[in-house]
Amino acid sequence: MSEREIIVLDSAEEAYVRAAEEITHVAGEAICTHAEFLFCLAGGSTPEKVYELMATRFRLSIDWKEVQFFFGDERCVPPDDAASNFAMANRTMLSKLELRPAQIHRIRGENPPERAAELYEQELRQCFGLADGEFPRFDLILLGLGENRHTASLFPGGPAIHENERLAVAVEVDDQHRSRVTLTPAVLNNAERVMFLVTGEGKAAAVKDVIEGGTSVEQAPARIVAPEDGVTLWILDRAAASLLSR
Ligand code: 6PG
Repeated sequence: MSEREIIVLDSAEEAYVRAAEEITHVAGEAICTHAEFLFCLAGGSTPEKVYELMATRFRLSIDWKEVQFFFGDERCVPPDDAASNFAMANRTMLSKLELRPAQIHRIRGENPPERAAELYEQELRQCFGLADGEFPRFDLILLGLGENRHTASLFPGGPAIHENERLAVAVEVDDQHRSRVTLTPAVLNNAERVMFLVTGEGKAAAVKDVIEGGTSVEQAPARIVAPEDGVTLWILDRAAASLLSR
């Protein structure tokens, strides 16, 4: 059964802290119940402050050696490129946690896009022990939301919205970083918990569209995210929630 929860904080800073608290709670539960925390990171800029909090204020709250880090999407650039989602997560969090390299499962964007997607799918199958037709079940997938209603790299009108067999695909998107690799809706919707973290007035119209409906998944791909047997948590600041009806 798919559940949804919406938490609105007065400021972006309070939203970042709440997101860090939620991550810490889910990590503790996951490690207690199955000895590891399968955590899929978001890219973009919004999560940066949360990742910094995880590596500082919340550093001692998680048994980091039991965490496996994955990515929801990646730009097809080298891992040290300023546009790389891995580079951002590494700069703000991963490099500060004394992790074993095997704990980090990045999308190898330095390869040709389709090759990067294939390699990531192989890594997901190997890490989750998947048979053909099975999908990974993350304990938590962190997602952002674009003003054009995209999430991960599922963009309006993109073919990946309707991909229901692959785990990850290469996409060309209408963005400055055109070539990307993204998890598919089937993987996002197989998660135990998805957490959208969205702040700022610029996202208010997208938040309203995605949460309150009215537009198709073609126009608002983030609307496709509703784990069949999981929870969708929205953590918003008041500005991003300002157009919601209630
Ligand atoms: C990316 C992200 C993307 C991001 C949204 C929001 O690679 O850009 O995966 O889905 O979450 O575009 O980006 P901001 O947090 O920068 O607003």
